[in-house]
Amino acid sequence: MIFEAVSTIAAAGLAGYSYLKSKGTGTSDSDKIQKIFANAEWQGKKGESIRLQRKQKFEGGYEYVYQLPLGFDRKKIEEKKYILEDGLNVRNQSFEINFSDLKDLKFNKTIVSQLKNLIKTKRKKKEIEVSFDGMLKIKIYDEPMPNIIEWRESLLIPNSWSVPIGITRKGDIVRHDFDNSKHLIVAGATGYGKSVILKLIVTTLIRQQPETVTLSLIDLKGGSAFHRFKDCKQRKHYSRDPETAEQVLKEVQNKMNHSFLKVVDKGYEDVKEAGIKERHFIIIDEAADLSDFPESMKIITDIARRGRSAGYYLIFCTQYPTAQVIPSQTKRNIIARLCYVVDTETASRVVLDEGGAEQLHDLPGRGIYKAGPKRYTLQSPFISNKQIASIIAPYIMENPKDGGDGQKSSETTKNRKHSLILEEV
Ligand SMILES: Nc1ncnc2c1ncn2[C@@H]1O[C@H](COP(=O)(O)OP(=O)(O)OP(=O)(O)O)[C@@H](O)[C@H]1O
Ligand SMILES: [Mg+2]
Repeated sequence: MIFEAVSTIAAAGLAGYSYLKSKGTGTSDSDKIQKIFANAEWQGKKGESIRLQRKQKFEGGYEYVYQLPLGFDRKKIEEKKYILEDGLNVRNQSFEINFSDLKDLKFNKTIVSQLKNLIKTKRKKKEIEVSFDGMLKIKIYDEPMPNIIEWRESLLIPNSWSVPIGITRKGDIVRHDFDNSKHLIVAGATGYGKSVILKLIVTTLIRQQPETVTLSLIDLKGGSAFHRFKDCKQRKHYSRDPETAEQVLKEVQNKMNHSFLKVVDKGYEDVKEAGIKERHFIIIDEAADLSDFPESMKIITDIARRGRSAGYYLIFCTQYPTAQVIPSQTKRNIIARLCYVVDTETASRVVLDEGGAEQLHDLPGRGIYKAGPKRYTLQSPFISNKQIASIIAPYIMENPKDGGDGQKSSETTKNRKHSLILEEV
């Protein structure tokens, strides 16, 4: 069974290649695409071909727009995009070598293998995007996106609530400004960079707003992402299990209610207009683990709805983007979404309200950010744990007020049998 699936994929991937090999490569990408369509037998029931309607240049590449034969299932192409990509990259991998590359070459007997290596590293792979809006659109980009972008100090904007979340193909920095689009949903299949971006956001907020940011960190993956921040002075709550997370959310909601009334009763729209500097972030890594806790889910929806005015911003992260995990009311109140690679178009639709994330390049950190009409394909910067440690070092407290567990009420009463506990009556 597995062998069969693998061999089918391999055969399909070779389809574009073998056709071009036997018939010779076309001169342009549109010729090649047409040949790949024919070879992969992407055509109407009576052999009608997929017809090119127009080709247009956009900044960074070309877009080819096709009319599909009536009744043709577009998923055949969308789900097997790699056939197109493989075919387009056959014998056509251009590369640029400049002077600085040549100056490192050593003219000895290894020169041939040095040149081969240089060509290998410089080869440009054509990347494509396939979409459908009544017409089939194939975008072919001139430049591949970098596979990794190292985090650097210059990405920071001191004193702002704007956080760098990615770099586009053109090299533009995409930022999520929490004072504009208050909350954020982060989703993606396992291992594609959700926790890394959450750590980057937390580190950036601590660094840019050390005196005004408050963090409630809920890490339901056992603390692997947020443990490093638990002794930071900006951390208010820290929870690693759904039970204490519920307690944390209740406390946060109480505080949010006070802040909400303070702002709204004075006639302001939000904290920004009221001139209040403090912001409180509630960050949940793996929100799916709360979906069986209706009280927690209710509070999350309430924070998404009213938190924007009160300065309580939610970052809701999940590996399981389903309607049950991201309730529609929560989603409606969170317009900004960051979606890394997902398995299916359905998952992409749950997060972004459109397909696309299932077709992203299979790389950690490659994602789509959507906030209202804005939509960017991006590569998120990668921040290492070592970099994080050195940035947050000045804010680590030696004796955190709650011993660092951040779970004052419920944990203390349950576990510390011999402590004297004074509770407010
Ligand atoms: N922006 C990035 N650029 C390059 N590599 C990355 C990036 N983000 C993550 N990675 C790599 O992918 C690995 C997994 O990332 P991460 O832990 O964030 O995945 P995740 O989406 O949180 O997965 P899970 O759902 O299992 O928790 C990282 O350890 C790192 O090696
Ligand atoms: Mg994770």
